[in-house]
Amino acid sequence: MTVSITEYELEEIRALIERRSGILFDASRERFFSSRVREYMVSKHLAHGTDLLRRMHNSNVEYETVVERLLTQETSFFRYPAVFEAFQRKVLPELHMKKFWENPRSLRIWSAGCATGEEPYSIAISVADALMFSEAWNVEILATDISKNALKIAQQGVYRRRNLGHVSPRQLDAYFSATGNDYAVKPRIRRMVSFAPMNLAQAVYLGRLDCIFCMNVMIYFSAERRNSLIQHFYEYLEPGGYLFLGHSESVSNVPVKFESVVCGDCILYRKPAGEMIYRGAALVEGTL
Ligand SMILES: C[S@@+](CC[C@H](N)C(=O)[O-])C[C@H]1O[C@@H](n2cnc3c(N)ncnc32)[C@H](O)[C@@H]1O
Repeated sequence: MTVSITEYELEEIRALIERRSGILFDASRERFFSSRVREYMVSKHLAHGTDLLRRMHNSNVEYETVVERLLTQETSFFRYPAVFEAFQRKVLPELHMKKFWENPRSLRIWSAGCATGEEPYSIAISVADALMFSEAWNVEILATDISKNALKIAQQGVYRRRNLGHVSPRQLDAYFSATGNDYAVKPRIRRMVSFAPMNLAQAVYLGRLDCIFCMNVMIYFSAERRNSLIQHFYEYLEPGGYLFLGHSESVSNVPVKFESVVCGDCILYRKPAGEMIYRGAALVEGTL
């Protein structure tokens, strides 16, 4: 089947997706975008771009199905080991000290753009490894994504061995059960994580958080959208709370007072605790 779609129609789809979801398909992703849209039209027997546009405007389900085809969901367990090392060896001990006398002792973490679940489960495993008596803590890891297909996989929590790259043999033994050729996340880890669909372009307040992981999600957003989201993250964090971004992302050019904390090979962003004064410079806090 041959399909016809004009540049103008493709541009209209691009603008619709940017407006509703924040995802920007710029010139560098032009070929990816137009070939995925054409593939979708073939699969739905839509001959003309106007047919697709009409359906996307009239039906949310159709709009979401097209967006699902365009999402990049590359992820893995402990994707950047240095980040998780900093989380375990610096951030969690700091939060442990801060909250030790709290009753109930709670820890709230958001994995924003969690894809198929590897990131929030890596966070939960780090918590189980790092916090003494982690059962005595009320740990809540909220994991959200725009992709309902990715969330279905995340909720199952079952992975192929080859996807467990950075999981150590000890962690594999402690936190996964083998089921045939696959490995299922054990209930102890699973219970810490709740999954829900959420579009970050229309993010809702989830209550105060100790840490927010938003890694490799905002790279596809416009600068304006990215800045506004980072400002929201700042407001949502507890004083002394941390924002974790992907390697190629930073909070520079955003008028928020995060402290950049250099930790081994990575930079973490901390919201100043009440009495601390932001001096604009990166803090280098020990080595890992
Ligand atoms: C490349 S993956 C990153 C996954 C994980 N954070 C990591 O670093 O391994 C990007 C994820 O962001 C999600 N995403 C993209 N736009 C989004 C939006 N507007 N709201 C919520 N999630 C979004 C995608 O569905 C995808 O699962």
